[in-house]
Amino acid sequence: MSLPLIREAAPSDRRQVAEMLAEVWGGGDFIMGVWREWLSSPSGDLLVAEVDGRVVGIMYVEYRPAGEAYLAGARVHPRYRRRGIAAQLTLECLGRARSRGKTLATLATSVENLAAQRLAEKLGFRLRARVVRVRASPLSRGQVDRVRPLGPEEAGSAEMWARERDGRPLKFDWYSYSTLTADDLRLYAEEGFAFAVGRYDGLALWQPYSFGGPFLMLDYLSGSRESARELGVLARLEARRFKLERVYGQVRASEDTLKGLVEAGFRHPKTRGMLVYEKPL
Ligand SMILES: CC(C)(COP(=O)(O)OP(=O)(O)OC[C@H]1O[C@@H](n2cnc3c(N)ncnc32)[C@H](O)[C@@H]1OP(=O)(O)O)[C@@H](O)C(=O)NCCC(=O)NCCS
Repeated sequence: MSLPLIREAAPSDRRQVAEMLAEVWGGGDFIMGVWREWLSSPSGDLLVAEVDGRVVGIMYVEYRPAGEAYLAGARVHPRYRRRGIAAQLTLECLGRARSRGKTLATLATSVENLAAQRLAEKLGFRLRARVVRVRASPLSRGQVDRVRPLGPEEAGSAEMWARERDGRPLKFDWYSYSTLTADDLRLYAEEGFAFAVGRYDGLALWQPYSFGGPFLMLDYLSGSRESARELGVLARLEARRFKLERVYGQVRASEDTLKGLVEAGFRHPKTRGMLVYEKPL
């Protein structure tokens, strides 16, 4: 086999990429849905690995504000695995991020994906957080005494609280993760989708989504057991108010927060979760 060539993807690669993805997870990969967006994004590079004129690997790096880069969409054709192709794609992404002045690279993978975890560890990524998927049904009646909307002017102090509690807090960003910033908090607060308990004992951000069916997505939730319980109950009540079918969430695995959410009627499958890795550049 000749050495893989790593290069930027071109529109004409689409057919070959689709063929390759059909072999990876039996089709149904979200990547074809974001192909054009990734290909033409001014804030990211979509790379492919080519061997003997054939596309056998793909990876996307997104350049984010505040010095961060996010790696996503790592896929290598099953017949070309364990030949260093994903490692080469990752190193190219890291190099590009570094030359844009980025200082931290982040990626996420499922707790079940040992190959991706080993790959990240081999390339010097460290585990930053485990994120648990939670879900609940909407609720028509429930008692919430201490939760209040977060004011946009509180964004700075709420961000400081989250940083003290979580280290660098993570926000779910629709199939990716980013560091929660004061700007995020201000935006959710202005939209009416940021809630706090006290100043502060708990904090949650969510938004209504429609994808398959309408649901409420908890993008961030952290707090003591009692605060998490109240925030969870409010999320379920809000879902009913907006006529949504479910509440989903991606929450950092902290024992008290998860206990509170379980008391609020959330479930979290034991095995399904994500590991978020990071590497200083
Ligand atoms: C994960 C994936 C991208 C790795 O691609 P790859 O080209 O085979 O990876 P590399 O050959 O560059 O592997 C580099 C290192 O990662 C680790 N690694 C890769 N695959 C592994 C596996 N199946 N089991 C254990 N370690 C693995 C090893 O340390 C390997 O080094 P080594 O071969 O010298 O031991 C590929 O398996 C794949 O496409 N999987 C399906 C899609 C997927 O899960 N993507 C990641 C989503 S986050």
